[in-house]
Formats: sequence, structure tokens, C-alpha cells
Amino acid sequence: MATQPPATAVKNTATVIPSLRVAVSPACNFNCVYCPPNKGEHRDLSTRLRRQWDSKRMAQITRVYSKLGAPSIRVTGGEPLHPAAFARVPPLVEAAADAGVEVRVNTNGYYVEENLSTLVAMRGQATAGFMLSVSLDATDAREFALLTQSSEDAFDKVVRGARKARDAGIPVLINMVLIDLDKPDRLARDPHIMLPRVIDKMLKMAEFCIAEGFDLKILDLNWYSQPGKMFWESNYSSATLALEEFLKAVEDERIPAHVQSKIVREPGNYGIPMPTFWFESARGKRVSVTFKDSELGTTYSYYCYSCSLIPKTGLIHAEMCQEGLYQSVLTSNQIITACRHKQSELATDLIHQRTDADIKGALRSFLTCFTLGFFQPVKNMAHELRFPRTWKMLEQFHAEVASTPQTKLVVVNEELGRRNRKKRR
Ligand SMILES: C[S@@+](CC[C@H](N)C(=O)[O-])C[C@H]1O[C@@H](n2cnc3c(N)ncnc32)[C@H](O)[C@@H]1O
Ligand code: SF4
Repeated sequence: MATQPPATAVKNTATVIPSLRVAVSPACNFNCVYCPPNKGEHRDLSTRLRRQWDSKRMAQITRVYSKLGAPSIRVTGGEPLHPAAFARVPPLVEAAADAGVEVRVNTNGYYVEENLSTLVAMRGQATAGFMLSVSLDATDAREFALLTQSSEDAFDKVVRGARKARDAGIPVLINMVLIDLDKPDRLARDPHIMLPRVIDKMLKMAEFCIAEGFDLKILDLNWYSQPGKMFWESNYSSATLALEEFLKAVEDERIPAHVQSKIVREPGNYGIPMPTFWFESARGKRVSVTFKDSELGTTYSYYCYSCSLIPKTGLIHAEMCQEGLYQSVLTSNQIITACRHKQSELATDLIHQRTDADIKGALRSFLTCFTLGFFQPVKNMAHELRFPRTWKMLEQFHAEVASTPQTKLVVVNEELGRRNRKKRR
């Protein structure tokens, strides 16, 4: 039976359409140590037996979803720029662009150089916004090769691709997962120990991004059933600790002073509150450094409270689901879900729908799982005592969330759609 959310959580009773992540294909040239083995595809065995959607069908669903008022479409994989996957990308970009929706392509960066002219054309088409999120978890070629299980020349190729995209006018965001493969066993299970080496790596990445004019998002490692909990416990580093070290480096002037800071959330106000800092880059562009830290709380819904994967004590999550609810995920093996950990029972209907009107109906019914979203801050005294600075920022954010009228969330979303449509004209 579904448990109920705690009374203290802040409710979002309006359905604000979240962004849509489209995993075009599981194909990938890297084999990152932390990445679920079947990549964008859903892990459930029964779903592996399903047929694949062709790119026309994925584009049709993306078009209908975009027109419902999606704030953005994120194209991902596997590796969407992989030769076996890339042909599936342009129809998706066209679908989102037609609806005046921003497009973001999540890539490991390896094939950016080869596909630059097509990416530039996509940028021209997606007038509501087009950007690349490039994954880069290390600042040197040797560690990068270890993490991605690829060759040592891969690092230089990825950095070259990111620079070429930037020089061609495509905004680039670097995604860095905090991971410490060399953490000694005796320290492995303490999430609040971050070795100087990892702090140094994170600061080097921040310096690099500020100098290069790339935005940077620092994420903590997510737990997935593959490669498993032991792997996660042994390699996790806290993003709050990273944030505190980052602020110390600003004070010590290793990093230049930021000009603005704010806590942001994913479009639709779902997910984890992310402290963000803006810097003047030497390239004359303002760049942001964002921390996505699953220890700060996230958005859950009734859908999450009935989840069997996350243990609960009474009404409260005993262990936190690191992601909660923040986007819809469409995969090439015919799944749409609100969660990367499990399949949504709500949308199996979509498979049978052929016309735009019928797809719209199935999507609307699927999106009801977002209707009752609850932002649940983590109340952890030890964490609060240890990281007073982060908690001060968060207190203000919690107060803002608590006082946000529900209707405002809808207005924000409608406003986004209007702005995007206007930009297109
Ligand atoms: C699955 S990849 C797909 C797109 C593309 N191949 C890439 O690497 O960016 C999307 C993002 O998920 C991140 N990711 C994968 N496994 C993760 C995990 N266990 N914890 C946190 N982030 C993870 C990757 O670093 C990447 O930024
Ligand atoms: S490049 Fe992306 S999809 Fe490929 S293994 Fe790494 S994180 Fe996973």
C-alpha cells in the first residue's frame, strides 16, 4: 500500500510539466565505471524484450510532449553522438524546435569534432536555446581513461571538441561527477571524507571552466543497482563538502570572487535545490558553477511514496532517494518514466497510441504523477552542524519554497513557454 508524504513537506499541487530526457540509444563508445550497463535503456528484464521505437516515433512523442509546454528537451543516451545513434538526434531537435522548446544534448564529448557542423545547424534551428552538456570527471588524461575505460587520447579529444563547440557559438556546460576511485578502503564508507586529491581535482576543474568560458555542474555519485551499492559506498564524495571547499578557495583567492549566487532548481521547480555561483570569465562571458548535492533534499511525489526501492520509516524515507522527481525520461525501448530507477506503470499505454491526439492523452495521464510533488528538505542535525554555511543558504531557500503560491509555479511555466515562442518569431 502507498504510504503518505510527511506533513512538513511543501506541496506543489499544480502539474508543472518537467523537462523531457530522451535516451536515443544505449550505444556508447565509453564504459564509465559508474554508469548503468544498459545506459539509457530501462533495466527491467521484461522491457529489454520490447521492440525499439524508430526515430520517427520518438520524434512524434517528443513533438507532442514539447507542445504540452515542456521547458526543455534533453537528448541523451548512451552516447547520442555515437555513429550508431546520431541519426536519431536531428528529428528530435526539429520536433523541439518546432514547438519553441530549448534543447540540451548530453554527451561524453568524444564525437563533437566530427559532428560540429550538424551541431551548429541544430543550434541555428533551436532558437529557444541549444547547448551541449559535456561529461568530464577528471582533469587529466590518465584518470579520465580509467574512469571512462577508454584510451588516454580520449581526454584531449573531448576537451578539443568542447572548445570547438564553444568557438562555434554553442554554449557548453561541463558535468563533473565527484568520484574518488583511489579512496583507501579504510575511508571508503565515510561519505564525508574527501581526500585533498579530489578537492584539488574539483578546484582545478572550476579554474579550467572559468578560464575557458564553460559552465560547470558538480554532481555527487548516484546509486544505481549496477554497479551496485558497494561501489557507490566506496566511491562517493559529498557535494556539500565540495561546496564548502569551493567557498574556502574563493575566500583564499585561489578562485576569483563570484559576482552573483542563487539556489536554482530544475525547470518546473522539481528536484534538488542547487547552489549556483556566477563568475566573470576571462573570455568576457559570465559562467556558472552549480552544485547538485543529493544530501540537500529533493522533490518526491505520491508516485515516490509508493516506491518499493527506497526503504521508509513510517511516512519518511529512511534512506533518501538521491534523485526524487525532476524530469520525464523517454527511452528507445518504449518506456516513459518519471524516474531513472524504475519503470512507470502509468504510461505503458503510450505504446499503443498512434495519433498525436491519442499520444497527448496518454502523456497527460502519465504526467499526473507530477501533480502532487513534495519538496522534502533533509533534516540532518549533524550535517547542519558540520556545514553551517551551506545550511544558511538553504534556510532562505526553504523559506522561499514554503511561501511560493502554487499558482505561481504554473505561471512560471506558462511564462517560459511564451518567452520561448516569442524568441522563435
Ligand atoms: C548516462 S550519461 C548519457 C550521456 C552521455 N553519454 C554522457 O556521458 O554525458 C548522462 C550523465 O549521467 C551521468 N551519470 C551516469 N552514471 C551516473 C552515476 N552513477 N552518478 C551520477 N551521474 C551519473 C554521466 O556522468 C553523464 O553526465
Ligand atoms: S559516456 Fe555516458 S553513457 Fe557512456 S558510459 Fe559514460 S556516462 Fe555512460
